[in-house]
Amino acid sequence: MTMLQTPMPRNERTASAPIPRPRSQWINTDVADFWLAHLHPRWRIGCMLARVCERRAASEDAVTLALRMPQRWPKARAGQHIDISVDIDGVRHTRAYSLSAPPSDPRHIEITIANVAGGKVSRHLFEHLQPGDVLQISAPYGGLCLPDNVHAPLLLLAAGSGITPLRSLLLDALARDWRGAITLGYWAQSRQSLCFAEQWAALQAQHSVLCVHTFLTRDPVEPAPRISAEVLTQVAPELAERTVLACGPSGFIDLTRKLSAQARAFHAEGFSPLASTCSDSPTVRVELRRQGVTLDLPTNQPLLAALESQGLQPAHGCRQGICNTCACHRISGASRDLQRDSLSAEPATSIRLCVHAAADGLVLDL
Ligand code: FES
Repeated sequence: MTMLQTPMPRNERTASAPIPRPRSQWINTDVADFWLAHLHPRWRIGCMLARVCERRAASEDAVTLALRMPQRWPKARAGQHIDISVDIDGVRHTRAYSLSAPPSDPRHIEITIANVAGGKVSRHLFEHLQPGDVLQISAPYGGLCLPDNVHAPLLLLAAGSGITPLRSLLLDALARDWRGAITLGYWAQSRQSLCFAEQWAALQAQHSVLCVHTFLTRDPVEPAPRISAEVLTQVAPELAERTVLACGPSGFIDLTRKLSAQARAFHAEGFSPLASTCSDSPTVRVELRRQGVTLDLPTNQPLLAALESQGLQPAHGCRQGICNTCACHRISGASRDLQRDSLSAEPATSIRLCVHAAADGLVLDL
């Protein structure tokens, strides 16, 4: 079996990198964008914006959004993800969403957003986003992809919103006239949350290589079994010949990886709930990624002041959380908003150093 390094997308989806932003040697693009946005919602110089072209239901609890991307946006491919940043109640949030279909052309993509319980950003997008709205987006990223050999038998295993990247890979494979068998095992909690339900039967009817198994684990009449060795044996008895592609919560991925030990190859992406952590220690480790410096900084002091006391001179203006001059991307870890007394740990999120304190294992794009 070929075991590849599992690429981890962001959202709370583990590892993270800052949103790619053009840098200018003349101006601070974060500050310029902060003020430009007050003049017009689409005026930006330091970030990329996409427009919502169409909105349609993917299930009772999920919506598919067709997006028109900006001209300088890099070409995406099936299986990749983008970060979407939105302001909710004055706070910037960033989450990753997968392309749910192969891009129809370099400037048009689709993402599918599930209205998950407790998902602040997903709920906001699900409830409020309409055609014509504008979203801040990142470049596409992610390494989940199909094997080169179109004769390779595939086993796609998805749980919950893990269906979105796998659907894009599945549609891509069918568009490439895939010759090997393709089996999809898709676990959802209920019929209401089963995405693209009407499409699976139609695709099977059109493509003889495709076999789809859906499992509704909380069906009130007949709850389906969770993934297990027995279930895998039923859906793909010749597992040793299959290339397995899996996406879902990290527990699902861990189990799937173990169950796929005999598979020909295994590639997966997992996601897990956002950590909302705070160290009990009076100081926490803070890494300044661009400077290659690691410091122990107090948890009860604004990062700006704490960095200055270490001899550093981050850009700043008002020191009151107003001008955005001190904005900096939190790559990972947690910080505390001292004005709101709230913890946040979303990766790839912009924070203001003058009103945020380090809370736990912080990595800054500084
Ligand atoms: S927001 Fe003005 S210095 Fe931080």
